[in-house]
Amino acid sequence: MYLYHFGLRELPFSLTPNTQFFLQLAPHVEALQVLHTALAAGEGFIKVCGEVGTGKTLLCRKLLNELGSNYQVAYLPNPCLKADELRRSVASELGIKPRDGVSLTELISQKLLELAQQGKQVVLILDEAQALPDESLEALRLFTNLETERSKLMQVVLFGQPELDRRLAQAQFRQLRQRITFSYQLRKLTLEESCCYIEHRLQVAGYQGNGLFSWQQFAWLHKASGGVPRILNVLCHKTLMLAYGAGQTGAIANEMVKAAVADTESALALPSWWRENLLLLASLTLLALTGLGWWLSFYMEAGQ
Ligand SMILES: Nc1ncnc2c1ncn2[C@@H]1O[C@H](COP(=O)(O)OP(=O)(O)OP(=O)(O)O)[C@@H](O)[C@H]1O
Ligand SMILES: [Mg+2]
Repeated sequence: MYLYHFGLRELPFSLTPNTQFFLQLAPHVEALQVLHTALAAGEGFIKVCGEVGTGKTLLCRKLLNELGSNYQVAYLPNPCLKADELRRSVASELGIKPRDGVSLTELISQKLLELAQQGKQVVLILDEAQALPDESLEALRLFTNLETERSKLMQVVLFGQPELDRRLAQAQFRQLRQRITFSYQLRKLTLEESCCYIEHRLQVAGYQGNGLFSWQQFAWLHKASGGVPRILNVLCHKTLMLAYGAGQTGAIANEMVKAAVADTESALALPSWWRENLLLLASLTLLALTGLGWWLSFYMEAGQ
C-alpha cells in the first residue's frame, strides 16, 4: 500500500468511523452540543438525522466516549429488531437477567428505578434507527413513558438517515413525534470544510510533507463528493492509490483525481473543461469582439 510512499503511519481515509480522526466541523460540533444539552435536560427523545455517510455513527461513538460516569448507556448499533428482540437487547445492555414469571418490561422498569435511585441517568442510543420496525418504534415510546415524578427513567437518542424523518411523519407516529424535544439535521460539508477535512485526516495519519492536493483538486473532490465525508474518503484513498501506482511523489497530478472520480459510482461527475471554463471563454470572446469593434471603427475613421 501507499503508507511508506507518502510517509504515513496509518491509512488516512479508512471508512471506519474512528474517533481518533474526529475533526471539529461545525455540523458535528453543533450536533454534539445539542445532544449534551438535551441529555442534561432529561426529556424523552432526541433525534439526529443525516444523509448516508455524513458522520452519524462517528457522532454516536463520540457521544459514547464523552458521556460521564453519571450516565448508564445502552447502545444498539444495529436496531433492526422486533419489539421483543429490542426489549431483550435493552435488558441485556442494562445487565438484566431474565427471570421466570416476570415480564421483561417489568424487569426493565425495576432496573431503571434502581439506577435512578443510584443517581444514574439511563440513555438508550440507537444507530441506524431508520431500520427499526414500526412496532419497535412504538415500544421505544413506551420506554420513555417510564418516569418518576421529576424525570424520565430512560432517554432515547435516535441516529438515522432521512428515511427516519419520512417514517416519523406518518400519522401513526404523531405521539412519538411530539416527544422528540430536541433534534438536529446533519448537513453536508462546505468547500472549506471539505478541504480542512482532507488535510486533517492526512495530518492525523502522520503526513508531514507539503500540500498533496491543489486548490483546484480540493474543489473537484468537494464537488464530486457532494460534501459527504464518506465519499471524500473513497475519492482521496483512490487518488493516493493511483498516484502511488504511477510512482508519483510530491503533489498529486490532476489526472489522478479525475480518474478516482470517474472510477467511483457514488461520486458526482465533474464538469467538462468547456463547462468549467465557460465563463472565462465567454469573457475572452467578448473582450476580443470589443477589441475588434474598436479596431474596425478606428481603421474606418482613419480611412475617411
Ligand atoms: N467530523 C468528522 N471528522 C472525521 N471524520 C469524519 C467526520 N465526519 C465523518 N467522518 C468520517 O466519514 C465517514 C462516514 O461516517 P459515518 O460512518 O459515521 O457515516 P454515517 O452517517 O453513519 O453513514 P450511514 O448513514 O451509512 O450509517 C467515516 O469514515 C467517518 O470517520
Ligand atoms: Mg452509520
